[in-house]
Amino acid sequence: MPERDAAELLRDAKRVVVFTGAGMSAESGVPTFRDALTGLWARFDPKSLATPEAFAAEPALVWGWYEWRRAEVLRARPNAGHDAVAAIEAHVPDTVVITQNVDDLHERAGSRTPIHLHGSLFTPRCSSCDRPAPPPATTPAPAGPHEELDGRLPPPSCADCGAPVRPGVVWFGEQLPTHALSAATEAVFGCDLLFTVGTSGLVYPAAEIPYVAARSGATVVQVNPEPTALDAVADVNLRGTAAQILPDLVARAWGDR
Ligand code: OAD
Repeated sequence: MPERDAAELLRDAKRVVVFTGAGMSAESGVPTFRDALTGLWARFDPKSLATPEAFAAEPALVWGWYEWRRAEVLRARPNAGHDAVAAIEAHVPDTVVITQNVDDLHERAGSRTPIHLHGSLFTPRCSSCDRPAPPPATTPAPAGPHEELDGRLPPPSCADCGAPVRPGVVWFGEQLPTHALSAATEAVFGCDLLFTVGTSGLVYPAAEIPYVAARSGATVVQVNPEPTALDAVADVNLRGTAAQILPDLVARAWGDR
């Protein structure tokens, strides 16, 4: 049974990497990228909002969208999959979590310092001088984006230079944060087991992570209810969701319930 093998691999692993995508947060109610966008955003394509050009042209629309997503994340809770990842870190001290997600659900589940390859909703910064800015104290109403504003929320101004504050996420066409990418690459080179959980493996360079692990001799275990581009590199393919598979693996590996 592959699941039993994955549990044995987990129990015997010395250095683990858990690489996660939007599917990791799906059971917390945070929509994945390739799900249809809901509500006001249904008529928008993320690719048309998540770009520097979109922010320059419509700062209030782009800022409003990210603030709406941040509000959704704040209303969400880590799921059993996030908890299982934190349990793996507790059992295997040399575990590194590398996430493509911009939510803070790994942190809220107890993961120590996940590497955010695509930034975070909680680290806005000045669009001009790059000075970090505090996330706003309030977030859009639960009804979703402010209908009366058509989702638009003017971004705050940088305390230093007055330029608009932007979301601290990586937009299409932008480079990944160098420190995150180098830390992720270093972790992957040294690991003996890599889990890829809830990612379609379509967006590079993040999607290279499981291949780098495989090339450096690690065993790659995929957790996803659907086939993905990463089926090709996975040694073990566990068809199921993060909140179903991961807690079971931890239980089989260490008896945690
Ligand atoms: P996607 O939406 O591309 O893929 C989500 C994956 O999660 C799919 O393969 C689903 O089958 C799977 N999935 C859905 N529900 C799941 C569950 N409950 N448990 C486990 N897996 C589940 O999201 P990502 O692969 O994360 O980039 O997308 C990668 C990047 O594309 C994002 O980081 C973002 C986007 O452009 C940037 O923002 C730069």
